[in-house]
Amino acid sequence: MIKKCLFPVAGYGTRFLPATKSMPKEMLTVVNKPLVQYGVEEALAAGLDEICFVTGRGKRAIIDHFDVSYELEHQIAGSNKEAYLTSVRNLIEQGKFASTRQSEMKGLGHAILTGELLVGNQPFGIILADDLCLNEGPGVISQLAEIYRRTGTSVIAIQEVGEQDVSKFGVIAGDEEEPGLYRVTDMVEKPEPEDAPSNLAIIGRYVLSPEIFDILRETPPGKDGEVQLTDALLTLAKTGKVYAYKFDGKRFDCGSVDGFVEATNHVYENIYLPEQGE
Ligand code: G1P
Repeated sequence: MIKKCLFPVAGYGTRFLPATKSMPKEMLTVVNKPLVQYGVEEALAAGLDEICFVTGRGKRAIIDHFDVSYELEHQIAGSNKEAYLTSVRNLIEQGKFASTRQSEMKGLGHAILTGELLVGNQPFGIILADDLCLNEGPGVISQLAEIYRRTGTSVIAIQEVGEQDVSKFGVIAGDEEEPGLYRVTDMVEKPEPEDAPSNLAIIGRYVLSPEIFDILRETPPGKDGEVQLTDALLTLAKTGKVYAYKFDGKRFDCGSVDGFVEATNHVYENIYLPEQGE
């Protein structure tokens, strides 16, 4: 059983300044829900109900969001506004929430290693909340968890991107063993287009075996002087133990203003309005 899902949420969100000066970027709202809530809902729907946040300074709002708000609830109890809280209350009841702090920003790999304290020695999911993934069927983390359960092998989400965009992602090369499922043979973090092994880009969803922690401990800083999860995964891939899966669903880059606006329009038209019965 995969129960844990790690959310690295310590990043600064500089691309959204001034909005993110005192507010975590993960709390920016896509229509009526903070970005991080979409990720938590995706994890819970996949049965990953032990939610582990790797936070940093100034990120308390995230932890508070997944806790009861007594004053607010007391204030609106019995009024017609109560329905607004239902979705968050349901989440709090379904999930267990824990957090630890990353005191220095040394990259995604370092954030994941910081989360070892919460995950321990068991397979776990990772969701990068900036990548908002939506699918009418099972969510992306659910698709990966299914592959992990079937194969016992770590698996990461990938998507084809345009050649001009490969430098924004980790990029893989692999052998396609089943439709959409590749055994990874190479991975490069944010390559120049001429160095990219393919146009298959890593999206922020992973289900990993806990052996990644020992590898991360030995992984030196890579691209941009940061400990890269991609580099650690390459070490694992060299032993044949990483799959990459071309998932079903849409992905929005909510780490960029353009992607955020696109996600907002999509959610408003395809989720919010239909829920309002319009
Ligand atoms: C991280 C990973 C990268 C991956 C990307 C997906 O980069 O390091 O391999 O492709 O997430 O969003 P970041 O965007 O956090 O710099």
